[in-house]
Amino acid sequence: MESMETLIVYGTRYGASAGTAEEIAAVLRGEGFDVKVVNAKEEKIKDINPYELIVVGSGLQMGKWTGEAEDFLKRFQNDFAQKKMALFASTMKTVSEREGKTDDVEVTRKFALTDKVTKYSLQAIALGFFGGVIDYNKMNFLFRKTLGSIRQQLEKDGFKETSPDVYDIRDMEEIRSWAKD
Ligand SMILES: Cc1cc2nc3c(=O)[nH]c(=O)nc-3n(C[C@H](O)[C@H](O)[C@H](O)COP(=O)(O)O)c2cc1C
Repeated sequence: MESMETLIVYGTRYGASAGTAEEIAAVLRGEGFDVKVVNAKEEKIKDINPYELIVVGSGLQMGKWTGEAEDFLKRFQNDFAQKKMALFASTMKTVSEREGKTDDVEVTRKFALTDKVTKYSLQAIALGFFGGVIDYNKMNFLFRKTLGSIRQQLEKDGFKETSPDVYDIRDMEEIRSWAKD
């Protein structure tokens, strides 16, 4: 089997996109791909020539990707045309889904994924639209206060605290099946 050289670059504030990137990597490695996973904040990729497949993802905060992940898209936007590329995003969409708020889901998809495709003229082969984590320990005071009110909502929607003050709202099966596709 040919091993497809793959680069996964992610931006994260609360850790979800790091875990999701590793999960995607594990699936691709299982298919024989050669995968490098990079945190955009820790390593600035200078050259994407060695890679055939590039997956770029970020968590969403107030509708925004992290600066470093966005910067990676921007810097290489013209080089992706020669590659297979895919995007993913970690969001609150799983909450909106459970609440049946389909309009919210679509607004989030736009900010998280389709706006990037348009802005950087990407020919993405796939757009991974995932949940994330709500981690009250990592939020600053203001955000903790602002998002405090959704804790009841998360409980009501059936999300359980995965560790103290942390709600992992990802669907790992959805992530694995996307990667496999
Ligand atoms: C202050 C704050 C703002 C957020 N804003 C959004 C948002 O605008 N849209 C959304 O879908 N999720 C939002 N989220 C939820 C994040 O998508 C979720 O925390 C995700 O895990 C972020 O990815 P990361 O863990 O890789 O940083 C927000 C979370 C926080 C703490």
